[in-house]
Amino acid sequence: DWTPDSFIETTIAELKAKLGDDKVVLGLSGGVDSSVAAVLLHQAIGANLHCIFVDNGLLRKDEYQSVLDSYQHMGLNIKGIDAKQRFYDALAGLTDPEKKRKAIGRVFIEVFDDAAHEVQGVSWLGQGTIYPDVIESVSVKGPSATIKSHHNVGGLPDFMKLKVVEPLNTLFKDEVRRVGKALGIDPNILGRHPFPGPGLAIRILGDITPEKVDILQQADAIYINNLRSAGVYDSVWQAGAIYLPVQSVGVMGDERTYENVICLRAVESVDGMTADWCHLPYNLLAKISNEIINNVKGINRVVYDISSKPPATIEWE
Ligand code: XMP
Repeated sequence: DWTPDSFIETTIAELKAKLGDDKVVLGLSGGVDSSVAAVLLHQAIGANLHCIFVDNGLLRKDEYQSVLDSYQHMGLNIKGIDAKQRFYDALAGLTDPEKKRKAIGRVFIEVFDDAAHEVQGVSWLGQGTIYPDVIESVSVKGPSATIKSHHNVGGLPDFMKLKVVEPLNTLFKDEVRRVGKALGIDPNILGRHPFPGPGLAIRILGDITPEKVDILQQADAIYINNLRSAGVYDSVWQAGAIYLPVQSVGVMGDERTYENVICLRAVESVDGMTADWCHLPYNLLAKISNEIINNVKGINRVVYDISSKPPATIEWE
């Protein structure tokens, strides 16, 4: 019978036998899968697991520091890398969504490869791959596809020549969450909404600047904090704010304003393949809208996305 505890026990024993005194390098994203994979590996091989967490400057507000803190709290051997400027430089002037994704994928590989080189004598790459990733390995948008599309250009980065260890590749998402819970991982990490690898770059329509990222982070934080305090965060499958490259007229005191629009998105879904927009309470939407407009400089209008997937997608890019 499968139970989280029996899975943990056999997996740790298998990892110990397979890895011995070898070193493993693993990229943490702040998401559920990579976090659970890291804790399992850490319990098996301790400090021989070297975790890397990259700040791409496209995460939610304060997320980099808070996630880094909770990983350190868990005792993981982790290195945080501030690569914000490299990502912003690579994104400067790009407006096409797929070009933005490619640029982010390319810089991530470069940054990760540099960090992996600093781990002397490493022989394994740890990954949080879960069973659905294995069966649909040709996902168009996943990080593995990003890496694959770079195979052809200039050869493999060195970390991709490492042997791969994927302790979760027989599990479904709900099983990963149960294992994570049994391992004592922070419920804040386990219950997190899915967040795309390219992060806020695909929630800022058009070109990316650090100023736009800052505005979107503030609006998004107000939105997500309100979903949490209203007790609806856990019943929403995924939510986030989107920065629209549209200016509209508003009025503040006696002044006419001409500022940008923030769109709020929240969907119910099982797997992201189809999704319905969430019928959030009007009074909650009203509170969020007021808080954003009153507190985020540069925003004078908030709209709510009432499109379902299909034919709309969850993200706007
Ligand atoms: P769409 O917008 O296609 O999104 O309805 C479906 C799910 O996939 C996520 N998504 C991505 N995840 N890299 C990722 O890692 C990406 O480029 C990407 N694009 C979309 C999206 O957040 C949703 O959960």
